[in-house]
Amino acid sequence: MKLTTLLVCDAGLDKRQTIEDLIHSQPSLALVSTVSGSMAREQIGSLHPKLVWIELSPAPVRGLSLLAELRETFPDVYFFVSYEVPDPELIRTAYRLGASDFLDAERWRTDLPAAVQSIQLKHQSESISTAAGKVIATFSPTGGIGVTTICTNLAGYLGKYGETCIVDLDLQFGMISQYLNLEPSFSLSTIDFSHTNFDATYLRNLMTRYDEKLSILAAPLDLEDIGDIYAAQVQEILYTAKQEFRFTLVDLPKNLLDERAIATLDLADEVLVITEYNWAAIVNARKCLDTFKAHYNQEKLLLVINRSEWQPQDVLSECRASLNYPIFHEIPNDVKTAKWANNQGQIAPPKSDLGKSLNSLARRLGGGEQLMITQKDTETSQGFKLPAFFKR
Ligand SMILES: Nc1ncnc2c1ncn2[C@@H]1O[C@H](COP(=O)(O)OP(=O)(O)OP(=O)(O)O)[C@@H](O)[C@H]1O
Ligand SMILES: [Mg+2]
Repeated sequence: MKLTTLLVCDAGLDKRQTIEDLIHSQPSLALVSTVSGSMAREQIGSLHPKLVWIELSPAPVRGLSLLAELRETFPDVYFFVSYEVPDPELIRTAYRLGASDFLDAERWRTDLPAAVQSIQLKHQSESISTAAGKVIATFSPTGGIGVTTICTNLAGYLGKYGETCIVDLDLQFGMISQYLNLEPSFSLSTIDFSHTNFDATYLRNLMTRYDEKLSILAAPLDLEDIGDIYAAQVQEILYTAKQEFRFTLVDLPKNLLDERAIATLDLADEVLVITEYNWAAIVNARKCLDTFKAHYNQEKLLLVINRSEWQPQDVLSECRASLNYPIFHEIPNDVKTAKWANNQGQIAPPKSDLGKSLNSLARRLGGGEQLMITQKDTETSQGFKLPAFFKR
């Protein structure tokens, strides 16, 4: 399946020819037209390309505002942005505005195949997403929040709704196998992507079973092994797992500069952004959600509060207002059960506070129940104070 591609280029003829040649060199891209920035909107509207490549020279700021405008008008189109040099400010803005990739002239020859493959996988997964299982990523911008605990226990409860697997993408210090008391023989670094039959059967053979409803693909056992895993390969794993399992949970590291994490966020059907009601965690969560909102829609981004405890109403109101995002679920602080589950390698019992809460989260994710805790209260805070810059 070829991706129809439209090039938007106001740079000189040489640059235009170079990019057109690059596009022609990719077997999975089909160039439908090259147009100037002023004609882009009209041409996308009539040619319906899947991918639009915007060259930012000679006026990068104008190019980025064109990206913003086109992305809003054509939310289903993928965008590549290119520029002479990898200017960090331009890269950041381009990603924030929803570009799928930023290609600079120094590296585009080597980077383009992976960028195209990643779009293709995304495109394929979007086309089949109704038939296949769900990929649910668990993520927190703050360390030690309880992401891995939630990931393992949620997976345990989702097993009731269909076969589930966990992919441990916390490649450096993944704890999924420890939290489930498993000793995997294989891990993500064992995968041979040149294997002629890279399919669900091959993937399953590398997984370790917890029980008949839950399997895991462990993080590499040695730190040296993590460098060999690329974003496109992670997407291939998730794409394959999605065909085979009802739910694929992914435990993500907190490093958002990691292209493997970004690839997972792109492909996931749902991303649980996990935080606590404490100031530092709220600041990070807010920062993250503000950026994610530019890329993903609200049904995909689900805000979960972990270790929620009784707090005065005004403090809670302040926290919720500062997050500025609807809260999907709150998980109570239950130190005894969390510790027991992680140390014993077991799923939190259904009668415990933690178990009850994760059971209900699983029901909502697995059974489609979509109740939000909305934030109505706007009283001012008395106890817990947030700096003024942090409030909108
Ligand atoms: N709801 C909860 N109530 C009480 N304790 C919890 C809860 N959730 C997690 N914990 C505890 O918090 C600690 C950190 O949990 P966990 O390892 O899951 O966090 P993490 O976000 O994955 O950390 P890391 O950043 O290291 O990956 C553990 O001791 C765990 O038992
Ligand atoms: Mg963790």
